Amino acid sequence: MSDNKVQIFDTTLRDGEQVPGCKLNTEQKLIIAEQLDNLGVDIIEAGFPVSSPGDFKSVEEISKIVKHATVCGLTRSVENDIKVAAEALKYAKTARIHTGIGTSDSHIKHKFKSNREAIIERAVKAVTYAKSFVEDVEFYAEDAGRTDNDYLARVCEAVIKAGATVLNIPDTTGYCLPHEYGAKIKYLKENVKGIEKAILSCHCHNDLGLATANSIEGVINGARQIECTINGIGERAGNTALEEVVMILRQHPYLNLDTNIKSEMLYGMSQLVSDSMGIYTQPNKAIVGANAFAHSSGIHQDGVIKNRETYEIIDPKDVGVTESAIVLTARSGRAALAYRAKNIGYELTKLQLDEIYTNFLDFADNKKEVDDNDIHQIIENSKVYKEITSA
Ligand code: KIV
Ligand code: ZN
Repeated sequence: MSDNKVQIFDTTLRDGEQVPGCKLNTEQKLIIAEQLDNLGVDIIEAGFPVSSPGDFKSVEEISKIVKHATVCGLTRSVENDIKVAAEALKYAKTARIHTGIGTSDSHIKHKFKSNREAIIERAVKAVTYAKSFVEDVEFYAEDAGRTDNDYLARVCEAVIKAGATVLNIPDTTGYCLPHEYGAKIKYLKENVKGIEKAILSCHCHNDLGLATANSIEGVINGARQIECTINGIGERAGNTALEEVVMILRQHPYLNLDTNIKSEMLYGMSQLVSDSMGIYTQPNKAIVGANAFAHSSGIHQDGVIKNRETYEIIDPKDVGVTESAIVLTARSGRAALAYRAKNIGYELTKLQLDEIYTNFLDFADNKKEVDDNDIHQIIENSKVYKEITSA
């Protein structure tokens, strides 16, 4: 892997599917997995095989159909979880076991009623066992975001020695600020013996709306994998949104970091996940929301009609959206009305536009959005209609 390539680890089917009420059946998961593979993700986390027979079956079936990506299964640091995951992954072209344990003092004390040394022992045992099934073993230090960096470095060093190929540093509770998360990755890069043998991975949750910013700060500081979901779905406030990190890296080429994602498929992918899960995507969602390329205020519309780049930093076609939308509302100006009227066949002179614009404003004040049928109606009811159609 080249040093400027960031691996995309998609966990829509595992962390993403933890959204309450969004359970997918195996058939739906297979369709999504196939499309993720076509999209160009490097790793698909297909599920948590020991959690239920249904999840086991999904991971097994996904393993059979994925052609390019590595297929990954989640486990706890528990022998049976690891054995079951290895079994579910046995048909995968390339398989990864993702195992781990909580490393923050809070997890160690309250969840495990244990101590730091015993946790390192369990982590090493899990990685060693996973390694007896597959070459590619990713270790997660759950709640790494709130784990003291010194201790985290010791855990990382021990699991690398046991054979971990990827070190996942989750900000499980979405607590870190971007500079803190970036500093954590930098600290591990600089203080873990053997770190060159493993890839550091960012896994950020969005409880404070910082998941994307934290992941980007992570890769700037040396991580080379981002764990993310389509539309940012996931437990509580969700995970890092795949479409956001991909487009941030693409729109900022001077960072010299890129992914293998075919960005023109992002919008379709977003729709597929949202339809399959019955989970509506907020209209102002970055990159894939219905309003991400829609302009409604007169000043913006005039700017975009003159030159798209005045108010758009991404060409909508690059993410699979056919074109920018000029939405007509009572805040729209003459330029937008003329543009939309032209699209449906009316070339208006300045005087005709003035006349129709007044009628348009009266109409728009009583309707949230003016559509093509409304424009026809406004023009047909205007004094200048005859003049327009006889021209
Ligand atoms: O958020 C988290 O810590 C996780 C781990 C299980 C990887 O999802
Ligand atoms: Zn998570």
